[in-house]
Amino acid sequence: MRNPFQYGTVVRGEAFCNRREEQKTLRRAIENGDKLFVYSERRLGKTSLVRTVLDKLPKKKFLRVYVDLWPTDSEASFVEQTGRAMAGSLGTTANKILEAVKTFFGSLAPSISLDDSGKPTLTVRLGEKENAAQQIEEVLSVAKRVADRGDQTVVVVFDECQRILEYGSDLVERKLRSTIQHHDNVCYIFLGSRKHLVQKMFLDKSRPLYRAAGHYPLEPIESKHWVPFIRTRFLDAKKGVEDEQIQSLCERTEGHPFYTQHLCHALWEQCEPGKKVTDAMVDAALDTLLAREGHAYTTLWESFAMNQRRFLTGLATTPRPVQPFSSAFVRDHGLRSASNAQRAADALMDRDVIDRDHGSFLIVDRFFKLWIQRAVAP
Ligand SMILES: Nc1ncnc2c1ncn2[C@@H]1O[C@H](COP(=O)(O)OP(=O)(O)O)[C@@H](O)[C@H]1O
Ligand SMILES: [Mg+2]
Repeated sequence: MRNPFQYGTVVRGEAFCNRREEQKTLRRAIENGDKLFVYSERRLGKTSLVRTVLDKLPKKKFLRVYVDLWPTDSEASFVEQTGRAMAGSLGTTANKILEAVKTFFGSLAPSISLDDSGKPTLTVRLGEKENAAQQIEEVLSVAKRVADRGDQTVVVVFDECQRILEYGSDLVERKLRSTIQHHDNVCYIFLGSRKHLVQKMFLDKSRPLYRAAGHYPLEPIESKHWVPFIRTRFLDAKKGVEDEQIQSLCERTEGHPFYTQHLCHALWEQCEPGKKVTDAMVDAALDTLLAREGHAYTTLWESFAMNQRRFLTGLATTPRPVQPFSSAFVRDHGLRSASNAQRAADALMDRDVIDRDHGSFLIVDRFFKLWIQRAVAP
């Protein structure tokens, strides 16, 4: 039997746990033509959630454009990737795509070629640099033109939108702002990891996209949703597990979807069919995972300055919410002053080891947090 717990890829269908409220919110946003900016840490389930919502939209009534900005690094690749996604959602055959391009792509002149598997792909060749602004506008207008036909609701998703901050100029941000505000019949959803960067994009007054979209922070999945999801998958394989054991597992992973699935995957392997999960098995599953990362974690740990290690130790061992600049925290963890703690936090943020969380900080890699707890345990 195949392990039912999946991690590392986008999960859909059977492998997708709950998120009912979130699905409802996003569905309404789409129907209303809202502009929404959904952000969370990496691997918290943004892509899985949005793709699940898109999958459930009736095809006839909704045009779904999903643009993955991860591979992009410039204005030109933004136009190319967006153009390709727009064309791909308008048709799957070369003829259909050509027809759609003629109707909706304005002055953009993409070329279409067949890839190795015979699938048509579209390439938007950018001409001179001075045309970049116009081409960005043009590619963004495609969604509007389709929506103006009036027979389909259009939703455009930009995934990994923090990439835009690395294009070297704020042209795409400015063009997005000036176009999407006139697209009242198109829903735009921006997904971003690296919370502090994307927050800057939408919540910093000096940035072009300031308040251009409502913001929707995605949170971990609550234990009450994980318990039935995990229990069923163990029982389906004739493996017994107590709700309390699942709860304690979720406490260790803080309900973070990636780490919860990863630990469940390992635990499911530990337990033979016909047997019951024991607490020792949960520990053993975690041991296996931490041992696998041991070398990488040790190297990472050794790369931190002393105060950064102290700061992380405090963060890993203090019950949340942690107040890392309080005199108690500073004293208990040998940081000597709040400004030392602040400097450590800044450096760790820059390296994406920690992230902001409800006025405090958290350690992004939940297994690293558990590793630190063990490493410093008396
Ligand atoms: N609703 C969910 N149910 C179960 N597992 C999930 C869910 N959402 C995310 N995951 C787990 O988290 C991992 C990362 O999800 P993903 O959607 O790629 O996150 P993000 O886009 O935020 O980086 C998935 O591989 C899966 O293991
Ligand atoms: Mg993603």
